[in-house]
Amino acid sequence: MRIYREADYQAMSRRGADILAAQILLCPGSVLGLATGSTPVGMYQELVKENQAGKIDFSKVQTVNLDEYVGLAPGHEQSYRYFMQRNLFGHVNISLDATHVPDGLAADLAEECRRYDRLIEDMGGVDLQVLGMGHNGHIGFNEPGDFFPLDTHVADLTDSTINANARFFDSRDQVPRQALSMGIRTILRARRILLLVSGKGKADAVAAAFHGPVTPRVPASVLQLHQDVILVGDSEALSRL
Ligand code: F6R
Repeated sequence: MRIYREADYQAMSRRGADILAAQILLCPGSVLGLATGSTPVGMYQELVKENQAGKIDFSKVQTVNLDEYVGLAPGHEQSYRYFMQRNLFGHVNISLDATHVPDGLAADLAEECRRYDRLIEDMGGVDLQVLGMGHNGHIGFNEPGDFFPLDTHVADLTDSTINANARFFDSRDQVPRQALSMGIRTILRARRILLLVSGKGKADAVAAAFHGPVTPRVPASVLQLHQDVILVGDSEALSRL
């Protein structure tokens, strides 16, 4: 694992953007796995700037997002499709057809999960997967549990995740209770993983993930088994590493 310890959120964002930009420059047709949440927002802003300055070209890039809430339409302000549109896709030269987010409104959610895994396989797999990490060590919506969910699946959000995500909604009641999420096998199949962490609230989860045992109780700990993980964090998030 390579670790970049950056001074603050902005430096973390710039470093993450440099790594993604290098991936796109070296392989313009890359399949990027993308995450939402607060952590990658600054990195997406940097990428938008680079794209608008003509330094990186998204025209051949394809993307697959990690997850989507069940029951939210793509136009809902808190849906992850909307998030991606607002933070990245709407500002760079990527074709919308080349961007993929699970369909949280699918009539048959189990079939939607299978479709999503087939789609990723048909695209040739993910070249670089961006991840954030929950305070409880979740990646995607793979929550702590007794086993690692392998494929894309319908995940029940834990109370801790509902509480953490309530800040984006008018009230806690409005936070969806389920999401579609790539599974651990899907994530580990990515050729390279870029994990971004920021803030002291993540320090314990980072320490548990990388200093503790590999266990589904701390889903991010499974990243210890991947051969090409880049961890980019600010000094607060990495303070216990
Ligand atoms: C988002 C996702 C989640 C977040 C995690 C951290 O697509 O899959 O696992 O990465 O909840 O969220 P933030 O960045 O808001 O702390």
